[in-house]
Amino acid sequence: MRVLLLGGGGREHALALGLSSDPSVEALIAAPGNPGIAGIAEIRSVDPLDPAAVAALAVETAADLVVIGPEAPLVAGVADAVRAKGIAVFGPSGEAARLEGSKAFAKDVMTAAGVPTARAYACTDARSVAEALAEFGPPYVVKNDGLAAGKGVVVTDDREKAEQHARECGRVVIEEYLAGPEVSLFVVTDGDTAVPLLPAQDFKRVGDGDTGPNTGGMGAYAPLPWTPPGLVDEVMRDVVHPTLAEMRRRGVPFSGLLYVGLAITTAGPRVIEFNARFGDPETQVVLALLESPLAGLLHAAATGTLAAHPPLRWRDGAAVTVVVAAEGYPAKPRAGDVITGAERPGVIHAGTARRAADGALLSAGGRVLCGTATGPDLAAARDAAYDLVRGIDLPGSHHRTDIAADAIEGRIAVAR
Ligand code: AMP
Ligand code: GLY
Repeated sequence: MRVLLLGGGGREHALALGLSSDPSVEALIAAPGNPGIAGIAEIRSVDPLDPAAVAALAVETAADLVVIGPEAPLVAGVADAVRAKGIAVFGPSGEAARLEGSKAFAKDVMTAAGVPTARAYACTDARSVAEALAEFGPPYVVKNDGLAAGKGVVVTDDREKAEQHARECGRVVIEEYLAGPEVSLFVVTDGDTAVPLLPAQDFKRVGDGDTGPNTGGMGAYAPLPWTPPGLVDEVMRDVVHPTLAEMRRRGVPFSGLLYVGLAITTAGPRVIEFNARFGDPETQVVLALLESPLAGLLHAAATGTLAAHPPLRWRDGAAVTVVVAAEGYPAKPRAGDVITGAERPGVIHAGTARRAADGALLSAGGRVLCGTATGPDLAAARDAAYDLVRGIDLPGSHHRTDIAADAIEGRIAVAR
């Protein structure tokens, strides 16, 4: 089949690697792609937020399957426009993508479906903000209601900071703090049938030991040796199936990738957020371990035939990815620095570009590259990932040094 992949970050490079190694894929086209993806796909340019333009490109490239990586095109209705041309799309409709696009909508669906999550209030004025903060107490959790590329959430003990974030956002969701280790569970679905991938863990804070501001994600690993037995079945039963049923009931079935962000609290798993697409950088590790052909799986979800798809096969061992971020990320990332040492297999491009004059590789985003490696166990995968990172030279860059460390040392525990 011919596959058109929309997007150009680390997630899309990982998706491109998976798609291009599926023998059923005869052509992979990526738009806008990035220099890493350019090595394995034909690159086209398109405005990813223009539904008509993407649909036209899908027709022009004779795509049998369009895979939409990032959330913004989904929320903009790109999947609807492509589907209207009769082309299979992996990714939800614009309406269904509101599970990610609006925190308030997601909370409403979860409440209706009886999904375990933090209690929350949607607030638009100073008075309702003050009341919600007072009710929950610290640590305060204040979320921008709209899309914020992983940076719209402030978790703080400082009431003034919490109020300031609420003022800056206008419309926010304020919720109860959920204590416990976080899990990202990706579920491939055609709206009815749902297939979980391996749970992974992301590192959202910029600094070692989970310090500093939230980011899009600084690293990830899978599998998770510390999760309680039966966790995935429990989340499928209590979260995924009720949510998909509620979306069908509302006449907005959700197909594509349902990303369930969970806190594993002492009372059991609680949903922190839904996303409507693969997570970044968790995708890099989950797909590194997936043995089943990726395009076949995504095509089955896109065509409503997931029930007939064979069970997924996974590689033994573990995978770790470490993000190399630009100087100043997340506040004010610097772009335009020359990168060397990014040629080794396992180096995934996220925010990179080629200099037109000489083809030099440049930083062009906050999260610039990821070192992704597999190994017989987490410790081996972690060593190999950091080896890749050490080989990369990007002036001013920074990365976390503790990705997967607590899991390897047995320092993550879930009391139940
Ligand atoms: P979100 O964009 O909703 O995933 O939030 C980003 C990060 O903020 C999450 O990965 C958590 O680390 C943290 N967070 C969000 N909501 C909560 C909550 N209710 N309790 C504790 N931490 C949270
Ligand atoms: N890794 C977090 C996200 O993709 O939202």
